[in-house]
Amino acid sequence: ARVRRQSLIDWDRARGKQTLAVLTAYDYTFARLADRAGADALLVGDSLGMTFAGEDNTLSVTLEQMVYHTRAVARGRERALLISDLPFLSYQESPEQALRSAGELLRAGAEVVKLEGGAVMAETVAFLSARGIPVCGHIGLTPQSVHQLGGYRQQGRDEVTAARLREDARQLVAAGARLLVLEAMPADLAAQITAESTVPTIGIGAGPHCDAQVLVMQDVLGLFLGQSPGFVRRYLEGAALCQDALARFVDDVHQRAYPGSGEG
Ligand code: KIV
Ligand code: NA
Repeated sequence: ARVRRQSLIDWDRARGKQTLAVLTAYDYTFARLADRAGADALLVGDSLGMTFAGEDNTLSVTLEQMVYHTRAVARGRERALLISDLPFLSYQESPEQALRSAGELLRAGAEVVKLEGGAVMAETVAFLSARGIPVCGHIGLTPQSVHQLGGYRQQGRDEVTAARLREDARQLVAAGARLLVLEAMPADLAAQITAESTVPTIGIGAGPHCDAQVLVMQDVLGLFLGQSPGFVRRYLEGAALCQDALARFVDDVHQRAYPGSGEG
C-alpha cells in the first residue's frame, strides 16, 4: 500500500497532541532511511555546507546546490513533509528574489521553504505566502548571520533579546509563516514563543516544549569524529562502526580475502 504523504494540515492537526520529529537529509540513501523510520519531516538544511561539504559555515552554499540535494532527498522520501533551506544571499535582497529562489526549491520537490531572520523578513514571508509558497521561519541562532552573532552561541538570554525574539516570531507568524524553527535559546523562552504562536514550532537546542524537534542526522547517528553540541543525543556510535567496517574491507582487500569464491 502507498503511504500517505504528510502535509502542513497534518502538522497543524498534531499540535498539542504529539511532538513531531524532523531530521535533516541531504541525499537519497539517508532520506529513505529517515522516511521509513517515520520522520514527520525531512529538512534539506544548508547545514550541508558544513556536514556534507566540510566548510566552516553555511555561507558558501548556493541555490544550485540546494536544488540538487532537494531533488535527491525528494526521490528518497515517501511520507515525510519536505522542507528546504533558502541559502545565504538567495532571498535577502528582495521579496522578488526570494520568490524566484523558493520557486526553484519547490520545483525540485520541496513543499516548504525555510529562511532565516525575524521581523526584517516579514515582508518577504508575506510575499511568498500570498503567492502560495509555504514558509518556515528560523530565529534564535541563525547560522547565516554567524559573523554578526560572533559565533555559534545561544540567543535570547537577556530580557531585551528575549523580547525581540518573541516579537520576531509574532511578526513572522502574522506575515503567514506556517512553521517556525527556534534554534539555540533558553527552554522557557522557546516555550513562551510556542505558546504565543498559532503555528507549530520546531526546536533545536531550545528545550522540550516546542511542537517538534529537529536534529542533524549525522549528529543523531554519531557520524562525526569528535564532540557533538550538548543538546545532541547520539543514537548510534556511527563513526566508529563505519570506520571499523571500512577498515575491515580495506584489510580484506590487502590480504586478498576479498573477493572470495562466489563474490565474483
Ligand atoms: O541547516 C539546518 O540543518 C538547519 C536546522 C539545524 C534547523 O537549519
Ligand atoms: Na539551515
